[in-house]
Amino acid sequence: MTHRIPRLGAAYYPEQWPRERWPVDAKLMAEAGLSFVRMGEFAWARLEPRQGELDLDWLEAAVEILADAGLDVILGTPTAAPPAWLIERHPEILPMRADGRVQPFGNRRHYCPNRPPFRAATERIVAALADRFGRDDRVSAWQIDNELGGRCYCDACRDAFHGWLRERYGSLDVVNEVWGSVFWSQTYGDWSQISLPDGTPVGAGFARNAPNPGLALDFRRFSSDSLIGYLRLQASILRERCAPRQRITHNLMGFRFAEIDYDELAGELDVVSWDNYPLLDTSRRWSSPALAADAMRGLKDAPVWVLEQQVGPLGWEILRSPRRGETRLHTWQAVVHGAEKICYFRWRTARFGTEQHWHGIVEADGRVGRRYEEIRALAAEIELLGRALAGARPHAEVALVHDYDSRFALQVQPTNPALAYEETLQRHYEAVRALGTGVDVVSLRTDLSRYRAVVAPSLYVMDEAVAAALAAYVAGGGLLVLAPRAGVKDRCNAVPERPLPAWLDELAGLEVVDYVSVAEDDGAWIVCAGDDGFEGDLRGWYEELELRDAVPVAEYADGDFAGTTAVAARELGGGRVVYVAGAATRETLTALYRSLWHDWGLPVHDLPADVEAVPLRNDHRDLMFLLNHADEERFVELGADKVVLEPLGIALVPATEDVRV
Ligand code: GAL
Ligand code: ZN
Repeated sequence: MTHRIPRLGAAYYPEQWPRERWPVDAKLMAEAGLSFVRMGEFAWARLEPRQGELDLDWLEAAVEILADAGLDVILGTPTAAPPAWLIERHPEILPMRADGRVQPFGNRRHYCPNRPPFRAATERIVAALADRFGRDDRVSAWQIDNELGGRCYCDACRDAFHGWLRERYGSLDVVNEVWGSVFWSQTYGDWSQISLPDGTPVGAGFARNAPNPGLALDFRRFSSDSLIGYLRLQASILRERCAPRQRITHNLMGFRFAEIDYDELAGELDVVSWDNYPLLDTSRRWSSPALAADAMRGLKDAPVWVLEQQVGPLGWEILRSPRRGETRLHTWQAVVHGAEKICYFRWRTARFGTEQHWHGIVEADGRVGRRYEEIRALAAEIELLGRALAGARPHAEVALVHDYDSRFALQVQPTNPALAYEETLQRHYEAVRALGTGVDVVSLRTDLSRYRAVVAPSLYVMDEAVAAALAAYVAGGGLLVLAPRAGVKDRCNAVPERPLPAWLDELAGLEVVDYVSVAEDDGAWIVCAGDDGFEGDLRGWYEELELRDAVPVAEYADGDFAGTTAVAARELGGGRVVYVAGAATRETLTALYRSLWHDWGLPVHDLPADVEAVPLRNDHRDLMFLLNHADEERFVELGADKVVLEPLGIALVPATEDVRV
C-alpha cells in the first residue's frame, strides 16, 4: 500500500442551493485547495420527483461546473432517503423498529432492506444514475447509500430470516439442536414458528426480555447480512454499468458502530471509507478516532477515504465546538493513520433541515470565515508535508483482534459492564499506543505471522480452528495476549462442554476454575508482579486460575483470590501466551504491556499525556509522526530526538530537511 499525497474535498449539496451559487462555490473550493466533492447521497426526490420521471440534468450541470473548476466528483446513490411518493405507494417499505413501531416518513433511513418494492425502486434509480454517469470521466467514485445501519423487525424480515436460517443450517432439526430450543419448550416444528427476537429494552424479573442466545446472535448476523446484501445489490448494478476506474465505496461509521459486520461488508467494496467525528466522543482526547481509523484501515489493509470529516461545531440538540486548530490536528491524525482522501462535512452550513447546527467550511449565509481560512492553510500544508510523507504507511508490529461474533454475542449477554466489548478493545488499544506502538486492527481471518505480538482481549466466541491458528502463531515465535471470558461460547452462542477458556486452555497452560462478577465501582483488587514488576488493579471481573504449564507473572494481592495468579504466561516454542485474569484498568494494562514489550524487544517510548505517536514506514525508513492533543506545549524525547510540540501541534521525526511543522 502506498500513500499518495492526501487530497481534500467537501460534502456538497447543490440541490439545497440556488443554481447561480454553484459556480461561486466551485471557485471557492478550488481556491481553498479542495480537489473533489461528494454529492447526491440524499437527493432522490430531486433526481426522481415522481415514479419513473427522472431529472438528472441538474446533477450533470453541477458535475460540469465543479469539473470546470478542477474538482472531480464522488457520487452518492440516494437510497438513504426514499422519497415520499415511494412511501405513499408502498408504505410497507417503512422499517419496523424493535418495539413494533413503524418508523414514519420524515427522517432518513426509513426503509427495510428486504422489501421487494424498495429493492426494485433502488435498482431503477441506481441503474439510471449508472447509465448517465458510469462512463463520465468527471466522476471518480460511487458512494453506495449512506451510513448503512438499523435492524428491521417487519414481516418481510421475518420471512427472510427463515430463509437465511434454512440456508445456514439446512434443516430445522439442526436449528433446534444448536440453539438448544429444548430449553423452555422452544422447540420448533415449522420454520414459520420462529419469531424475531424481542428487541425491546430488557425488562425486569420473570417478564424480562430474554431471547434464546443462539437465535439472538443469528438475528444480529442476519440483520448485518441484510444490509450487506442490499449494498451488494447496488454494487452489482454499478459494476455492470460503470467504468472500472470508478471506485465503489461506502461510508462506514468507524469502530464504535456495532450493527454490521464490517469485515464482511468491506469485501463488497473497492475502497473502505468512513465518517470521522472526533467530538462525538468527548470522554477521550485522541484514542477514539485513532482506534476507528486503525479499525477502518484494517478492514482491507489498505488506504481509506474519510468521506465525512468534522470541520466545525456539531450536534443535533447540543452543540460542541472543536478547539482552534483542532480540525488541522484531526485531519493529520486521519492522514497518518492511513487516509488518502479527506472530505469535510460539509461545504456550507445548512439553512434548513435538522442539521442546521452541523457547521460547514462556509457559513450558512454563504460568507467565508475562519473555518474556510483554516482549511485553505491546511490544504497548502498538506501539499508540502504530504510530499515528505508520500510513500509512508502506518507501521504496526502489533495486531489487535476484532471479532464480530464475540461482539454480537456480548450484546446479547453483556455479563458485566467491565467486559463491554468496545471499551475492552479501546482500553487495550490505548495501553499499547501509549507506548508509541503502532497497531493494526485485524480479524481472525488475518495471517498473524507478520506481527510480533497479537492482543486478543475479547475472544468470547471461540472455535477449534481459531484456537489452532493462534497456537500456530505462538509456536512460530509470537507473543499472544488473552484476557477474561475467552472461549465462553461456541459459534452458535452455546456453552461448550470444555474447560474455560474453551479450546484455549491447553495453549494458555491454565484453566479458569472460578470467577467473581461485581460492580466496577465496587473497589478494585490489586495485582502485583513481584518486587521489580508492575502493580495495578482489576475491576468488576475477576477469574481464579489453576495453572498447568503456565507460570505466574502477577498475583492478586487482595480479594477472594488473594495469593493466586492474576496474570499468567506460558512459553511455547519461541513464543509466549499471556493470560490476564480480570478486567484491568488502562494504567494497569500500560504497565503490563511495558514489561511485555521490554521482554520481547519491542520499542517503548515515554510519551507525555495526550501526545500520540504514530509509527510510519517509508522505503524501509522508520518515521514517527507526533500529534499533541493537549492545550499546552509538550516536550517529547524519542531516542536522540528532542521535540517541542506546540499546543495541538504536530511533528514528523526523524526530520528529513524541513519537515517539522
Ligand atoms: C453523518 C451522516 C451525514 C450527516 C452527518 C452529521 O452521520 O452521514 O449525512 O448526518 O452525520 O450529522
Ligand atoms: Zn424489514
